[in-house]
Amino acid sequence: MQLLLLLVVLGTVSAGVQDLSGKMFTFPQLTDSAHVRLNPIKLDYNAVTVCHRSVTDIERDHAIFSLATPSQNNGFLTFWKNGNREIQPHIRGARVEYGGWDYTLNKWHSICTTWDSEKGLVQIWVDGIPSIRKFISSGAISGAVKIVLGQDQDTFGGGFDVNQSFAGMITDVHMWDYTLSSCEIQNYMSEMSLTPGNVLNWRALDFEIVGNVLIEDKPVCHPA
Ligand SMILES: *[C@@H]1O[C@H](CO)[C@@H](O)[C@H](O)[C@H]1NC(C)=O
Repeated sequence: MQLLLLLVVLGTVSAGVQDLSGKMFTFPQLTDSAHVRLNPIKLDYNAVTVCHRSVTDIERDHAIFSLATPSQNNGFLTFWKNGNREIQPHIRGARVEYGGWDYTLNKWHSICTTWDSEKGLVQIWVDGIPSIRKFISSGAISGAVKIVLGQDQDTFGGGFDVNQSFAGMITDVHMWDYTLSSCEIQNYMSEMSLTPGNVLNWRALDFEIVGNVLIEDKPVCHPA
């Protein structure tokens, strides 16, 4: 009873592993606390691909996917830098800038980021269009990670800033410990079948919701 009360007070719902096919997370409020913790299936990455679809109407900086390690808050971060109109991948504390996207508000955007630790090259795809490949950081991501949707981690698992929080919806989050081919990325972009993530799998997602985040049905008819 006391444990239940404590969980209610903290606003934590332990959801365990769920198939979220056809579902989305709705972040209905700007807060410095509401988020979803994603628990990875495996650790230690020599390469990474992260894909997600999201929609928002926030006209300011915001994080879409935030992975931190104990030594790097921005271990693997997808960030919209509003002043510069840039999507900025941050990997192992380093950052590159990608401009020129049609990151329209109130429109769903499919974004994938690939990176390999050997060459240290990153590339993003936004709504089917690939960026150029840029050097960001070489060397593996080793050991513990904390992965958060809805907030930007400025410490390991915390340090949230309401002014970098996300409001809107996020779906189809997958993470692999290898780089997907451009054909596989195009399959993701056009919502065709693909090999689900072996680190984060939307169809068997291990997660916890903290605060006011809802699991809702994905709209069946939405603009491409
Ligand atoms: C968030 O941004 C608003 C508007 O710029 C500012 O007034 C406020 O102090 C900021 N809050 C925090 C916690 O930084």
